[in-house]
Amino acid sequence: MSEWTYHDALAQFGIGSAHPGGYGLTKELLAKEALTAKTRVLDCGCGTGRTAALLAKRYRCKVTALDRHPLMLEKAKRRMAKEKVRSVRLLQGDIENLPFADNSFDLLLAESVTVFTDLGTALREYARVLRPGGVLIDLDMTAERPLSARELEELSLVYGTRHVPTEEEWRGRLEQAGFDLIEVVKGGSVASALAALTEQQAADAQDIDPSEGIDTQLYEIFAAHERVTRQYRHRLGFRVFRAVVK
Ligand SMILES: C[S@@+](CC[C@H](N)C(=O)[O-])C[C@H]1O[C@@H](n2cnc3c(N)ncnc32)[C@H](O)[C@@H]1O
Repeated sequence: MSEWTYHDALAQFGIGSAHPGGYGLTKELLAKEALTAKTRVLDCGCGTGRTAALLAKRYRCKVTALDRHPLMLEKAKRRMAKEKVRSVRLLQGDIENLPFADNSFDLLLAESVTVFTDLGTALREYARVLRPGGVLIDLDMTAERPLSARELEELSLVYGTRHVPTEEEWRGRLEQAGFDLIEVVKGGSVASALAALTEQQAADAQDIDPSEGIDTQLYEIFAAHERVTRQYRHRLGFRVFRAVVK
């Protein structure tokens, strides 16, 4: 059994915008928000920092980007240097115990990360660090119907997830954590997302920064990810939740 994780594979290959809908969807979501140079944004689970760089460059927001994975942060740092973005504060940290005071941010982005954490703890942390009235945009893996224990076990072998909520379950979790005005602004099954993939999105997906000498086991993790994606294309999907802290 490999000691490597799915996130190690993403980090070693240095994949930017590692979420359904990719960079195109991120740009679409941000364009709908009233972002200014005063907006304090936290990108939780920022990966290689593609969204954080966009927020700083296009919107001049005050951006903090946090990830647990040291190699992701190294690659995010390299991106900021390459793209001459000096203002992003990059931090190593755990979403389940965010290193920020209460009411520190106006907007919190979580692109394909919350599902990998303890949901209740992570969502309560998001609500705590956002100011009252602050906005959460959470793009997350969602089950199209409740999954059986065997299905969850199979997914956890690839992703290390403990649970994959349905849309209804996500809504309930968000409410319990103190969010209100919960909307689903985008989403669908993996099958529908693949069918809707445009040439532009495919081109946008080409944002990689691979490490040297990648272990062959990491290719196997990707092969398992692709197999599961195909196999579960009607049972798994994603939703973009937009919610406001009470
Ligand atoms: C699927 S990737 C998505 C990265 C990025 N948001 C993007 O869209 O490209 C998930 C990221 O979440 C990070 N992550 C997972 N669990 C975390 C946790 N508990 N605290 C902080 N980061 C975490 C991983 O290291 C990885 O970089």
